[in-house]
Amino acid sequence: MEAIHWIIKKARQAMMDHQYAIDQTLGQRYKIEKVLQNGSYGIIYLCWDLDSQQRCVVKQMRKSKKKENVENYKQETAILQMLDHLAIPKLIDTFVYQDKQFFSMEFIEGKNIEDALFDSEQKYNEIECLKMLKQLTSIICYLHEKGVVHGDIRIPNVLVHHGKLCLIDFGLALNLHTDNKAREQQEHLVQEDFFDLGDFLLFLLYSSYDEETKKDRPWTEELSLDPKTTHLLKRLLQIDEPYRRCEDVLTDIVEAITLLSESETHASSVRVES
Ligand SMILES: Nc1ncnc2c1ncn2[C@@H]1O[C@H](COP(=O)(O)OP(=O)(O)O)[C@@H](O)[C@H]1O
Ligand SMILES: [Mg+2]
Repeated sequence: MEAIHWIIKKARQAMMDHQYAIDQTLGQRYKIEKVLQNGSYGIIYLCWDLDSQQRCVVKQMRKSKKKENVENYKQETAILQMLDHLAIPKLIDTFVYQDKQFFSMEFIEGKNIEDALFDSEQKYNEIECLKMLKQLTSIICYLHEKGVVHGDIRIPNVLVHHGKLCLIDFGLALNLHTDNKAREQQEHLVQEDFFDLGDFLLFLLYSSYDEETKKDRPWTEELSLDPKTTHLLKRLLQIDEPYRRCEDVLTDIVEAITLLSESETHASSVRVES
């Protein structure tokens, strides 16, 4: 009997979370070109917007996870709507089609960093990593100034195109101005974004790490970094005194980049002289 219930439940879920096919048109406006992702939060389509004659991305909410998803959908669309930054996709529209909730947003050219690191085996040196972190951190500073925490800064949620970074996926973002959280909790959420920036930097730095032994050692031993970069990482990862304001993170990144560029220039002039 239980098996039948399970089959019925799965069949109902499959119907509710139906994935539309290529060339179908959603809401009489968005013609599907490709399914970008069929994840646990929703289905992401690359579409052709018949109105504006432009590419865009359409996100379909999962209906089977109704309660949490309605909340996420409201948050994500409200937050995207209030943001205006070149490195964040703009919300185009929200709509219901065949009883399912969708929203459309600007298409951002590029590859997500997860694919760049693991499929394309892209490698970045320390200074390139810091420059990428600087770009991402200035997007985060913009968000925090608006009272928004992203909550999900990870390599699959950052796109890169010709060295320019964009931040996507506001599915777990929160607007602290409207979300009555206690002050301590707000600070905790802000610091979680900083922690994720630290984790993001570690992913980038490990792209050019060549494993010498099979034994796992902590990053402080495996990576040979400039002391300024180590200091930055330790504060981001809350090993040392955590940052409280995004501007301070940015200042330390800029300082680390400057010091590294100076020592690189110095090293190359020494090489030329000898
Ligand atoms: N606006 C966009 N422009 C280009 N690609 C996008 C856009 N939004 C999402 N994608 C692609 O779809 C993937 C999943 O999108 P995301 O919003 O992160 O969904 P999920 O909530 O399922 O993680 C991303 O990793 C990215 O490759
Ligand atoms: Mg994502």
